[in-house]
Amino acid sequence: MSRKPKPLTADPSWATFNRMKAIEWLGDRVRILDQSRLPHQRAYLELKRYQDIASAIAGLKIRGAPAIGVAGAYGLALAALEIKARAKGDFISELRAASQALSHTRPTAGNLFRAIEGMLKVAEAGKEPGQIKKALITEAVRIHDEEAEATLKLSRLGAELIKDGFTILTHCNTGALATAGYGTALGVIKQAFEQGKRIRVLATETRPLLQGARITAWELKQANIPFQLITDSMAGYFMGRGEVSCLIVGADRIALNGDTANKIGTYTLAVLAKEHNIPFYIAAPTTTIDPSLASGEEIPIEQRSPEEVTRIQGVAIAPEGVEAANPAFDVTPHRYITAIITESGIIRKPFGEGIRKIIND
Ligand code: MRU
Repeated sequence: MSRKPKPLTADPSWATFNRMKAIEWLGDRVRILDQSRLPHQRAYLELKRYQDIASAIAGLKIRGAPAIGVAGAYGLALAALEIKARAKGDFISELRAASQALSHTRPTAGNLFRAIEGMLKVAEAGKEPGQIKKALITEAVRIHDEEAEATLKLSRLGAELIKDGFTILTHCNTGALATAGYGTALGVIKQAFEQGKRIRVLATETRPLLQGARITAWELKQANIPFQLITDSMAGYFMGRGEVSCLIVGADRIALNGDTANKIGTYTLAVLAKEHNIPFYIAAPTTTIDPSLASGEEIPIEQRSPEEVTRIQGVAIAPEGVEAANPAFDVTPHRYITAIITESGIIRKPFGEGIRKIIND
């Protein structure tokens, strides 16, 4: 007799992240937790127009590649609801204009472009505006569910790599809030902890916008996982002392050869890990893989305002008028990566082969 699979919603891990919903569809509007105000304020925003979603993405109120993809999909659903055109052609032109605005928010997170492309395909396949609007809402919710389920699956697979007693170093924020699901790198860590493994986490603060100090520390605290917050520049100290068992980070876009764009500072960590012979893992859903890019050189890197470097939460820390650079991401060449954890399996070298196989399957 075959047993019916347990619904995901009945899973205790699901309940854990469901308590902190990064983004939620409310029928004709979207509610997001404003991540730019964490950890001191837990403020929710209700957004009715796609332009509001676009500025929430650009302003990092909703952030993290999978969550940005979900927000983009809901943004297009909101745009569709506002379009008055009755002819399909006119409707699609207006929808495309909204999709342009949404895709110009943040250039690196691959999930955004994939979600928008999927939404536009659904619109093109529809009959008339009334039916297309409904189909777009269904598709956006489906994209959200798919991302969320993928993160739980990959977290379970990745947890196998974590042994009892491990100290794991992670960077930026890759939990429920960044993924609109369970988490990627932080999901793997949470799963290992939920499985009863005694682990310790070193979480980097992640300058300039402190996603590690503000959000990862907040999520780790809520999950009762033992951790220490460190500044980005302390990572080498802990690796050199032999205190780090492995590193796990997320990804914003992965090229076909395994080169991975992730939060600025990831490349430095990967080089240090190789020097110290420490495994360096990437955890990401397959929606982060961009099959149109042969290598990481082609991944567009977002350049953000220099003020994010010269100020911390609005307070100036550098002399007025200094020039600052602010690339938000860097690319880690695949040679530094030990394995890529996805919901469809753990990909090991040669990555090109493994990634192609997963995409084709
Ligand atoms: O600029 P952000 O905060 O949107 O950065 C994205 C990230 O959180 C990370 O780069 C992360 O490691 C990948 S997304 C889960």
